[in-house]
Amino acid sequence: MTALPSNGLILKWAALGFAGALALPLYALGESLADPAIGRAPAVSAEHGMVVAQEAIAARAGVDILQKGGNAIDAAVAVGFAMAVTYPRAGNLGGGGFMVIHRSGGDDTTIDYREIAPAAINAKSFLDAQGNADPQKSRDSALAIGVPGTVAGLALAEAKYGSGHFTLAELIAPAIALARDGIAVADDTADSLPVDKPRLARWPSSAQIFLKADGAVLALGDQLVQHDLADTLQAIAKGGPQAFYDGPVAEKLAAGVQAAGGVMTADDLKSYRAIERAPIRGSYRGYDIVSMPPPSSGGVALVEMLNILEGYDLAHDDEAQALFLMVEAMKRAYADRAWFLGDPDVVQIPVARLTSKTYAADWRATIDPMHATPAAAIRAGGEVRPEGRNTTHFSVIDGFGNAVSNTYTLNFSYGVGLVAAGTGVLLNNELDDFAAKADAPNAYGLLGDKANAPGPGKRPLSSMTPTIVLKDGKPYLVTGTPGGSRIITIVLHIVTDVIDRGMDIASAVSKPRVHNQWMPDQVIAEPGFAPDVIAALRARGDTVVVQKLTTSANSIVVTPGGFVGAADPRTRGALAAGY
Ligand code: DON
Repeated sequence: MTALPSNGLILKWAALGFAGALALPLYALGESLADPAIGRAPAVSAEHGMVVAQEAIAARAGVDILQKGGNAIDAAVAVGFAMAVTYPRAGNLGGGGFMVIHRSGGDDTTIDYREIAPAAINAKSFLDAQGNADPQKSRDSALAIGVPGTVAGLALAEAKYGSGHFTLAELIAPAIALARDGIAVADDTADSLPVDKPRLARWPSSAQIFLKADGAVLALGDQLVQHDLADTLQAIAKGGPQAFYDGPVAEKLAAGVQAAGGVMTADDLKSYRAIERAPIRGSYRGYDIVSMPPPSSGGVALVEMLNILEGYDLAHDDEAQALFLMVEAMKRAYADRAWFLGDPDVVQIPVARLTSKTYAADWRATIDPMHATPAAAIRAGGEVRPEGRNTTHFSVIDGFGNAVSNTYTLNFSYGVGLVAAGTGVLLNNELDDFAAKADAPNAYGLLGDKANAPGPGKRPLSSMTPTIVLKDGKPYLVTGTPGGSRIITIVLHIVTDVIDRGMDIASAVSKPRVHNQWMPDQVIAEPGFAPDVIAALRARGDTVVVQKLTTSANSIVVTPGGFVGAADPRTRGALAAGY
């Protein structure tokens, strides 16, 4: 039996989680300068294949591979490399992520290419001299840089599941051309560069790429040319992923990190491995859920919430009641996340128990349909005490029956802001996703404990939730999103809106959402809910804060008439494209 947090710890978490949320930096939430209105996603349909991604040039590069006979995995790999060039805010070679794959034969698998902590990182790495968590170290310094996993992950996906019609070099070719020839700065990149300028301007190697001679950031229409990145991509095209992890590129990456005060070494890069893992599986009202296992918390928490909600009639409940029940499920799943989840190669996680229907039934029994359970009363493990930015997601589907759901990230927009000199590679600050200390919220206000403590070679716990929903064993919905701690609850909304409420995908991605992450004990509701819905949640005892959630749930649904995709309207520049 796993030990549970003491009541004292929960109360401390309650207080600190709230303080942490108030201190959330704007860039951590991935806030952009976009208009606060959500807008409406256009639905796009296609017969043979589709890509929905946050950046249009990369989405088209993926469709081009599909049109040339590639499968969804080939296309996803091409999109992944292209976005490292065209969407530097989150597309990356210097970060990591997760890919969920459904294969036409019926197999499902996942690729874990999460960053790992360098060997010199330990449980005290992100504390100050007094032993308190030091967010400057875990968010704003080169110490926060995890060993990047993206190149290994994309290469592994292609080697094992690509169609075989393309070499890795052919899939990287569009990215090389885009980096070498340059692209015009557009949409979300033009929105986000001014916000993130202070982080990028700290290092000449980054400023050289993203700032002009007069010190201003590149603006709408300016050319973004990335020669060093083109050379790095060229080296990978020629030598495979080893050319990134071993040899001159790896040496430059390590030197760049160390010159900025970090601890990543060439040996850390050499020992990096992407890992294929069995997906988290669940069922929901006759559909199969296939999602990401630890070190992401996404799949476990999503299935746990869906299992709890399956006991209610969300389709017929009034909107406020359905949202209230979703929030109650969120609180419980995030409490379990904070206590149980971490790197599965280092800590034991009771995955089968957390994702079982009986466990959900126990949780359901603690929900009062008319009264909000205070977060401080929720005890991870199924008990309630009596009273008491930036990431990017793309979805791909082909005409052969394959689908890919991929979310990858540098953590904050443009990561830590550091380009390792001579590589063109922007580096992440993913190690802030560790629980620097038991009572210290990360940038998204998330709490954790020993299961997610920093340690050498450990993968920090993630919330990324790339997900494929199957109907009769075939892809039905491909979805996922950026959004830090909010990712899992956004995916919950999309799944329940499509399955319970029969909503079309364009409406589902556009509709306002609510979020609760246990601590802080508050519900974030997007603008757009009717005042009586908010009033009804408040009447049941929830603290509701109205705030826009900047997300990008780029999703695809399979209908009898073909594929229908929709790009989330909350972030500019996304595209659903198919043929
Ligand atoms: O892995 C995670 O959960 C976070 N590093 C994701 C960060 C994120 O989604 C930021 N985007 N808005």
